[in-house]
Amino acid sequence: MAERPYAEYAARNAAPILEILEREFGSASRVLEIGSGTGQHAVAFAAAMDHLHWQTSDLDENHAGIRAWVDDSGIDNIAPPLSMDVRDAAVENDIYDAVFSSNTAHIMGIDAVEKMFALVGEALRPGGVFCLYGPFRQGGEFNTMSNADFDANLRQRDVVMGIRDIEKLDEFALAVGLQRVRFYAVPSNNNVAVWVLGDKS
Ligand SMILES: C[S@@+](CC[C@H](N)C(=O)[O-])C[C@H]1O[C@@H](n2cnc3c(N)ncnc32)[C@H](O)[C@@H]1O
Repeated sequence: MAERPYAEYAARNAAPILEILEREFGSASRVLEIGSGTGQHAVAFAAAMDHLHWQTSDLDENHAGIRAWVDDSGIDNIAPPLSMDVRDAAVENDIYDAVFSSNTAHIMGIDAVEKMFALVGEALRPGGVFCLYGPFRQGGEFNTMSNADFDANLRQRDVVMGIRDIEKLDEFALAVGLQRVRFYAVPSNNNVAVWVLGDKS
């Protein structure tokens, strides 16, 4: 079996994210995670919320690690990763009650972020919820100097990366019928933004 990849930050932020997901996904059943990364979050959240069926997904290069976590977990409410590059992926329409994604919007290019929102709009049933964890700018401002530094580092690493303006994400969301309903502050100067899908026409 492949080694289970481990990210210290994902272990650290799991508990505060879980607290919010328990509230937001309380009446959900089917969840799609976009960009499952190491697979740690998926296993921690599916184990803690056994009313959910948790569908992992990511770029193919991360599948072996996610599978290792899923296989090792011994829990049966989690599914091995779907092949998912949001830039050209197709999803089954209207079948998910909730979508979760963590630390993806500042890694993907802005065009891919827009596509991620379009995908979420397709995947969710009306009334479904999208929770996105990560650092954001609000009102054109970073919430801390450390996030401004982080943004500069990201852009140096790759010009397409960078911390996103929550207002820009709201534009992408509104274009597919998603309305932001909450914006939680969580430790490490991050937030969880929550959008709800309206009726599909
Ligand atoms: C910083 S990692 C976050 C991983 C995990 N969600 C976490 O919080 O630990 C960013 C993730 O976004 C994924 N990603 C980047 N570009 C993507 C794309 N175009 N489509 C889908 N996933 C993508 C990466 O493969 C990676 O898993």
